[in-house]
Amino acid sequence: HAARPDVEAVADSLADVERGVQACRRCPLYRDATQGVCGEGPKTARLMIVGEQPGDQEDLAGRPFVGPAGQVLDAALEEAGIDRSDVYVTNAVKHFKHEPQGKRRLHKTPNAGEVQACRWWLDAERRLIQPKVVLALGATAGLAVLGRKPAVMQERGRALALDDGSVGLVTVHPSYLLRLPDVAAKAEARRGLVDDLIATQRLMS
Ligand code: URA
Repeated sequence: HAARPDVEAVADSLADVERGVQACRRCPLYRDATQGVCGEGPKTARLMIVGEQPGDQEDLAGRPFVGPAGQVLDAALEEAGIDRSDVYVTNAVKHFKHEPQGKRRLHKTPNAGEVQACRWWLDAERRLIQPKVVLALGATAGLAVLGRKPAVMQERGRALALDDGSVGLVTVHPSYLLRLPDVAAKAEARRGLVDDLIATQRLMS
């Protein structure tokens, strides 16, 4: 194979990451996705929020957290008093993994190999942004950020030291909230997400 400098070279800028993700063949997920979805937010962001992977709407829009989970995240950010435009929002895996169900595209959780392959890009984003705090939404994001799968319910909200000197925090994924059928359980999970968002602010000051 010919060398692919766009993919193999260490990314020097967020534009490099964007180009590299669109050309990425590190795992097969690019095949069924519309496009890669990179992170979004200011280079100076002190908080990075990491989701799992783009969903159906993110895959089409090319932007992270613009669908139903994004609406939950936006509401939680607002309740926590955090301006989303100050945050770098990204995903552990940059392509939408899914399988067809009728006319719909059903989300499939990325596996550990796909998460590992895509850490190339998440690590590049982390190196370029150098956030003070990295908040992982759910276990897959936790795996990408911590290098091990966290027990989200036990570990959520706890400040964890990361190799690069930043602080890691794990919380529930907004989609988990959407799936909870029970109103009280949903409210409690939502409270947890907001509390953990507030905790990121304390850790940055
Ligand atoms: N869920 C995620 O984890 N990330 C997105 O960007 C959208 C939904």
